[in-house]
Amino acid sequence: MDIEKQFESAFARIALPNGQPLSSAEPEIVHGCVINNDFAKITLILPEDSPLRGYLPAQVEAEVKQIEQIGRVAIEVLTDPPVENEPPQTSATQSAPQQPKRTAYLQNYEAVIAVASGKGGVGKSTVSVNLALALSQKGYKVSLFDADIYGPSLPIMTGRRGEKPSVSGNHLLPIESFGMHTLSIGNLVEENNAVIWRGPMVHQAIEQLLRDTKWPGGDFMIIDLPPGTGDVQLSLSQLCELTGSVIVSTPQDVALIDAIKASQMFTKVEIDVLGIVENMSFFACPKCGEETPIFSRHGAENASAQMNTQFLGAIPIEMDVRKGGDDGKPLMARNLDSPATVAFNKIADNLVKVLEEG
Ligand SMILES: Nc1ncnc2c1ncn2[C@@H]1O[C@H](COP(=O)(O)OP(=O)(O)OP(=O)(O)O)[C@@H](O)[C@H]1O
Ligand SMILES: [Mg+2]
Repeated sequence: MDIEKQFESAFARIALPNGQPLSSAEPEIVHGCVINNDFAKITLILPEDSPLRGYLPAQVEAEVKQIEQIGRVAIEVLTDPPVENEPPQTSATQSAPQQPKRTAYLQNYEAVIAVASGKGGVGKSTVSVNLALALSQKGYKVSLFDADIYGPSLPIMTGRRGEKPSVSGNHLLPIESFGMHTLSIGNLVEENNAVIWRGPMVHQAIEQLLRDTKWPGGDFMIIDLPPGTGDVQLSLSQLCELTGSVIVSTPQDVALIDAIKASQMFTKVEIDVLGIVENMSFFACPKCGEETPIFSRHGAENASAQMNTQFLGAIPIEMDVRKGGDDGKPLMARNLDSPATVAFNKIADNLVKVLEEG
């Protein structure tokens, strides 16, 4: 039996006090059901004074846990269906809201792009911020979302550490940095708290940052992912329709193997890999211009051919790139005429080209 049917029967097995099965409750009680591998998140709508609040969530959890594929369940109980900023639903889900559905946040962006890598520390956040800025400087309307729940770095990189977003009604308003709209879990919780989050909490945090934030929409939403192929990647692939991913790798073999793993993960969840960026590709001597291939050059470029994906460009190792991140004013906000500045501009152009051709 397919998973939708299994959920339908789980909800049908639960009888309400009036004898009706939960699946056909009027007004609707099961408002949403998002499945992410073995994790299911169910949203129930129950008025504040409903006696069902006392036992129904536990009953739903127990029934859903009977489904073989499902190992973890989170039940969210709301008083009213979320109205504002609600993601558009497909016609199939509108006619049967109790069935599992793929929600799709961020639909007000032309392109939603996740910046990923298999290995940590290869420069995802650096590439996310500077690529976003390069696009913004070319006149596109760009937002930047730091989805690295475990180690958010956007607040530091954009000089907004400790800053909390404003709230409007039930929604958070993204922070405006360097002409872009940005938000990070690091703007909401103490930095040290972020690292202990696991599984369902991660999914919920990501969903909240998407659902409860008034993302303004525009041309690009760039999402900075944590390293690896874990919970956040899967949650995002369930919660938004990603246009595609950009994989960052250094030229070394170990980093490349991980980049290939990351790319395979995206392929598995049917997300296009738009291209590969080779970071820390070489060191260009600021005095004589000589280029030294510290991590051996062209590895990512060769891998992109192997992986049948575009090579978007190579970024040199440059002191101003590192300094920009540490000082909270990214390289691309500094108007320098450096090799890395040229590289980020080229990568932005290549990405636009890939999207236009795609
Ligand atoms: N091209 C570069 N030249 C110089 N320094 C760089 C370059 N790219 C990244 N760095 C530096 O390397 C460090 C790691 O980069 P960054 O934080 O962007 O990696 P990451 O892949 O996002 O890491 P994590 O996996 O921890 O999220 C940072 O100090 C950053 O400033
Ligand atoms: Mg990072």
